[in-house]
Amino acid sequence: MDKFVMIIFGASGDLTKRKLMPALYTLYNAGRLPDDFFIVGIGRTDYTDSRYREYILNELHKNASVGQPERKPEDFCSHLHYLSLDPAEAGSYGLLDACLRKLTGEEKPENLLYYLATPPSLYGIIPLHLKAARLNRPHTRIIVEKPFGYDLESAQELNHIYASVFEESQIYRIDHFLGKETAQNILAFRFANGIFEPLWNRNYIDYVEITAVENLGIEQRGGFYDGTGALRDMVQNHLIQLVALTAMEPPAIFNADNFRNEVVKVYDSLAPLTREDLNEHIVRGQYTASAVKPGYREEKNVAPDSRTETYIAMKIGINNWRWKDVPFYIRTGKQMPTKVTEIVVHFRETPHQMFRCEGGHCPRANKLILRLQPNEGIVLKFGMKVPGPGFDVQQVMMDFSYDKLGILSVGDAYARLIEDCILGDSTLFTRSDAVEASWRFFDPVLRYWKENQNAPLYGYPAGTWGPLESETMMREHGAEWTNPCKNLTNTDEYCEL
Ligand code: BG6
Repeated sequence: MDKFVMIIFGASGDLTKRKLMPALYTLYNAGRLPDDFFIVGIGRTDYTDSRYREYILNELHKNASVGQPERKPEDFCSHLHYLSLDPAEAGSYGLLDACLRKLTGEEKPENLLYYLATPPSLYGIIPLHLKAARLNRPHTRIIVEKPFGYDLESAQELNHIYASVFEESQIYRIDHFLGKETAQNILAFRFANGIFEPLWNRNYIDYVEITAVENLGIEQRGGFYDGTGALRDMVQNHLIQLVALTAMEPPAIFNADNFRNEVVKVYDSLAPLTREDLNEHIVRGQYTASAVKPGYREEKNVAPDSRTETYIAMKIGINNWRWKDVPFYIRTGKQMPTKVTEIVVHFRETPHQMFRCEGGHCPRANKLILRLQPNEGIVLKFGMKVPGPGFDVQQVMMDFSYDKLGILSVGDAYARLIEDCILGDSTLFTRSDAVEASWRFFDPVLRYWKENQNAPLYGYPAGTWGPLESETMMREHGAEWTNPCKNLTNTDEYCEL
């Protein structure tokens, strides 16, 4: 087989050191990278090969689970090379071409994988320069980070550019949430078990919550984040993918086309947002200073009068037979009390309740919690009689925790996705029509905010659960957010509000 070269644009950036290199090292350590491989980092920072290796080695010790390695990180780093060039400059690509030829000893290396881990402003430029330098060869692949586009129009333009350079089968739009073991397990849970699917619809489900919140701020990413915001950073991609996994129909055969067709069907069924939705069913917030943490506007590279949202909660409807009138409440936020990603499915109450609230316990509707991170697992909450006189019904839990499997730790999302791309499996990557369908749904929100500069942006003190208005939004359905305990150590630690 030809020598394999992965070319990372944005090689001196945050994503490369925190996610990509640790993932590549994980694959290397497990013997899952092709035998003969090179990794070429491209960036504007001036490194020599050896300085770059040193820098990555140092980062691997900080960010990768090096533990008791089969293969040493030093050996992995010996496969790294670095090219200091400006990827926005067409003239630089001759250097890349020369480097690839020299490394592989091949006149026209074909087995290339480009990874775009650059600021999104370069996503449209790099493929055109690759094409001009004839580096878009038939067997090359390209992975592009999210957000793919800034709105519907720019996503369509990007799709157009990519289609002029590569075949769709060569383009891998990455959304690392789909690489999470626990996200994939939503499909196994729903479609490999007979007992849940008959209940998975409007007849039995009252509403669904999807939460992906973090207890960190924007770290060193002020420049990127202030021009992006939570909707583009998390909702248009990660959260809506989770909606799709929760709401989709079972594909007849599990393959890239069928799976991705079902995802697009969910996006196409999203109930278009009305004026009332835009006014009342979307709550955006921005963290303010608290006793121990600075406010968003005090972060580095953030405008002092910034109106970028660091929190968003939305009510979403799906217009199809399965989900009509079942609200999906989604939320994401920075500087929340804890980091957690989970889906909470609220089943309907029993049609008639013969047990009364006694001894402080009331029968309650069943809840199923799919915890994606941390303490990955699944919890089913149901009522049980409290032993003793009378008929007190108390909520208890059936609890599955991944830890208890005792096999492997829950794998790394980036490692899974990079390996899939190397193997040519695009199932877990976003197709061009899906990215546009998702933007089509969210575009009115961006337009509404742009046209209504006074649309509310609620402040919330860093370290709290976001604006109270997001609770108000749910109350009209008799719903409320499920807020996990602050210090999650077990799957079963749920502090009800
Ligand atoms: C990234 C966002 O895509 O996902 C970040 O750009 C966010 O802002 C991150 O912090 C969350 O991912 P995870 O896997 O840590 O939950």
